[in-house]
Amino acid sequence: MASSVSLNHPWWHSAVIYQIYPRSFASTDGPIGTIRGITSKLEYLHELGVDAIWISPFYPSPQNDAGYDVANYHDIDPRFGTLCDADEMIARAHDLGLKVIIDLVPNHTSDEHEWFQAALEAGPGSPERNRYWFRDGDEIPNDWRSVFGGPAWTRVSDRADAVGSSWENDRQWYLNLFDSSQPDLNWENPEVRDYFDSILRFWLDRGVDGFRVDVAHGLVKDPQLPNFSGDVSMVHGGTQRPPMFDQEGVHEIFRRWNAVLGEYEGDRILVAEAWVDPPSRLTRYVREDEMHQAFNFTFLATPWNAGALRSTIDESLRVFGDVGRPATWVLSNHDVVRHASRLGLSVTGKGPNGIFASDEQPDAELGLQRAKAATQLMLALPGSAYLYQGEELGLPEHTTLPNEVREDPAFFRTAGAEAGRDGCRVPLPWSSEAPAYGFSPSGETWLPQPPKWRELAVDRQEDDPASTLQFYRRLIALRTEWNLGEGSFRFIEAPEHVVAGISSTDRGEFLIVTSVDGQWILPNGWTIAAQSSDTISRDGRTVIGSDTTVWATRSDWLRSDA
Ligand code: NOJ
Repeated sequence: MASSVSLNHPWWHSAVIYQIYPRSFASTDGPIGTIRGITSKLEYLHELGVDAIWISPFYPSPQNDAGYDVANYHDIDPRFGTLCDADEMIARAHDLGLKVIIDLVPNHTSDEHEWFQAALEAGPGSPERNRYWFRDGDEIPNDWRSVFGGPAWTRVSDRADAVGSSWENDRQWYLNLFDSSQPDLNWENPEVRDYFDSILRFWLDRGVDGFRVDVAHGLVKDPQLPNFSGDVSMVHGGTQRPPMFDQEGVHEIFRRWNAVLGEYEGDRILVAEAWVDPPSRLTRYVREDEMHQAFNFTFLATPWNAGALRSTIDESLRVFGDVGRPATWVLSNHDVVRHASRLGLSVTGKGPNGIFASDEQPDAELGLQRAKAATQLMLALPGSAYLYQGEELGLPEHTTLPNEVREDPAFFRTAGAEAGRDGCRVPLPWSSEAPAYGFSPSGETWLPQPPKWRELAVDRQEDDPASTLQFYRRLIALRTEWNLGEGSFRFIEAPEHVVAGISSTDRGEFLIVTSVDGQWILPNGWTIAAQSSDTISRDGRTVIGSDTTVWATRSDWLRSDA
């Protein structure tokens, strides 16, 4: 099955990559995180043992979608800092051996971007409007829904800024697959393609090691704009593919970008955010001359069930192996309920879009136990793995945020039917006794932190061997020592409720067991080296309980440094 053992792969094949959500990571100022805040914590990330960081958007933006609405791709939002701060941060990361991946948002701009402002001014039929999807009509052009809820088209004259402007009576519509302040770019227009080449070069010249590509599956639309009323949150392969996602034309763009990256030294990468399923559809984004990684959201969305986990892992390793690329595993990010909470709900899987106080509340203890087991399973698999800031502290979702503080456009565009993603974006606790738990010197946070986070602050966990933080550090260190990311993984026979396999690497053979729902006795001849929960000793044997992952070595395995 799947990947082979090789020592010569580029860094990203097996890297552990830590996602920084800059608004909420660390502030050297007020309620919003800063670039200098990131720099000040790079040492912490180095100690955690990760290989790279991915930073969510830091560009100037009205922040209607927390920075995924970019007004200027060539600068830093003054709330976060300056270009100079970014240069320093990149240099410091490189000094520590950390690669830096930044977020590229090519599907849409902010409506405050100079192109969109020019398009409004220039009026119907202008070349400025042809950079976006403007359409005439008394009726809305089609029935597409925004991913955030509501229609995917906005009439120019309905905009708040139309009053008293030259577009006051403009009846054209523009496409916005997300918020109405995020107009979709027209990738049929060569000007758009050239523009993004220059953005890539601007940041590559500043030394970044790669780009996480937002909505990679959405850049090209079926030009006929046919109606589509199906679900657009996860795109399924086959005949039901929506006309706005996973169109064949996107791949040409990524081949072009691959060539741009190829002009630069070092192994620079593109990672696709593409919510497509099954994994065989996703692997088309990482063909040899396209992107390098693509988040495996099918894995993230897999219910906590041994059979389902086995089949997702098996299929993922097979289909990524078919295109000669490693799989890219992920369990949490800034768009989903944190896995320490998601796995504590009665129905596991992709989870709801946020949790209200009036909804079923996750079982915190069970959720954390499963989350640690899931992470330990993920970190054993060949390929690369992404961690989301705060998961190393075992942070749960904030499930009792008052509606008055919510900022996610999904909450507003669904008229409060969906809580949205604010609950996974709460500023991190660094220091239990400091104001804002050490997030900002001013003691302010853009979202309130739950009081329980005091106990989860970094300073409380740092020296506690039983803490989640120490658990993550141990796992990442062992994964590196054993070279698990470069291993070849095969399942072994085990009961239905168990996921068990052997990872063979150039360091030896390692047994990986996740017992999802019931007990299993550790096979003879193996010794546990890391476990996500306590195991039980019975009659001289080791019993692995429910919701537990263990990594074991052959009992006669000797460390080469022993
Ligand atoms: C995916 C990003 O991860 C999400 O946060 C954002 O809202 C949408 N793309 C739109 O850019």
